[in-house]
Amino acid sequence: MKLKNLQGKSIIVVGGAGYIGSHVCKKISSKGGLPIVFDNFSAGHKHAIKWGPYEKVDLRNNKETSKAFEKYKSVETVIHLASSIEVNTGEKFPSEFYTNNVLGTLNLLNAMKNTNARKIIFSSTCATYGEIEDVPILETVIQNPLSVYGKTKLAMEHMIESFHKAYDLNYIILRYFNAAGADPEGDIGEEHDPETHLIPNALNAAASGKSMKIFGTDYDTIDGTCIRDYIHVNDIAQAHIDSIQAQKNGLKSADVNIGTGEGYSIFQILSMIEKVTGYKVKYKICQKRAGDLAKIYADTSKAENVLGFKTKYSNLENIIQTAWNFYKNKK
Ligand SMILES: NC(=O)c1ccc[n+]([C@@H]2O[C@H](COP(=O)([O-])OP(=O)(O)OC[C@H]3O[C@@H](n4cnc5c(N)ncnc54)[C@H](O)[C@@H]3O)[C@@H](O)[C@H]2O)c1
Repeated sequence: MKLKNLQGKSIIVVGGAGYIGSHVCKKISSKGGLPIVFDNFSAGHKHAIKWGPYEKVDLRNNKETSKAFEKYKSVETVIHLASSIEVNTGEKFPSEFYTNNVLGTLNLLNAMKNTNARKIIFSSTCATYGEIEDVPILETVIQNPLSVYGKTKLAMEHMIESFHKAYDLNYIILRYFNAAGADPEGDIGEEHDPETHLIPNALNAAASGKSMKIFGTDYDTIDGTCIRDYIHVNDIAQAHIDSIQAQKNGLKSADVNIGTGEGYSIFQILSMIEKVTGYKVKYKICQKRAGDLAKIYADTSKAENVLGFKTKYSNLENIIQTAWNFYKNKK
């Protein structure tokens, strides 16, 4: 049975002031639920919190984290999106990355253990897979992440699984592929600083006339550029609602890809950006980056079978159009 609404249900959204978290909060609210944001605002924005209360909480601070969970101790479900995400920063500053992601998650799990929060939905990433030849990627492949970012996210997954076995914590790990696009109503969108993601950087190049960098054009792909699976952030938000329903129906543990099953090359993205914006995208070709894979896209059958998840917003033109609308309104 599909959940009609979340009427009366409070959900703690850790990292809810960020890009994906704010879309998750809006979706929870649209279903009648109350999102309670925990965030330290290291990367998120107060102006992106519009659908419920918030607590300023830094997961690295054990006492602060426990206190915030104590305040909301009757809440059953936690969505955990808080993380350092910038891949190059992770390579330069692994200590900070492990502290924020791994220690932060340990503090969160320990705090949950002392309250009624027995269900977690965790934002993981396709970066935990590493170099996989066989695409589309199935959840069952051996995860061997290349980046510090991917390694910390895999460590977080392992911790959650251990707490599930020992302390009866139910979990759904969602391994998102490339989140993109913006709220169709324009309330929120992607505002990372620094912005390292392709679509906002390419929109910026289109609007400003400045060149963007493309790392490598001799990959073994249709046009030599890397292929990725871009999924609309609103579809990712819906995957959390489907996960809440699956947990309500008794699902105790699962790890699930959240992607579209289709891949687009960088040049295909740029050409759609030119079509949508009407501007040319200038670019400079640079050396390949270590650790960038030629192609990666999701096998989506488990998401459909286990969560009943299907994408609705993720056609490429819609992704770019909503991102472009947000970009223009922000200026
Ligand atoms: N954006 C993508 O394409 C993508 C792809 C795969 C997975 N993910 C995962 O999705 C999640 C959200 O990504 P996003 O793009 O929205 O990132 P984001 O940086 O916009 O959001 C992360 C939020 O977490 C908060 N945060 C970070 N450290 C914290 C701490 N110690 N205590 C409290 N709050 C803290 C930040 O302030 C921010 O609001 C991350 O866990 C990321 O690994 C993102």
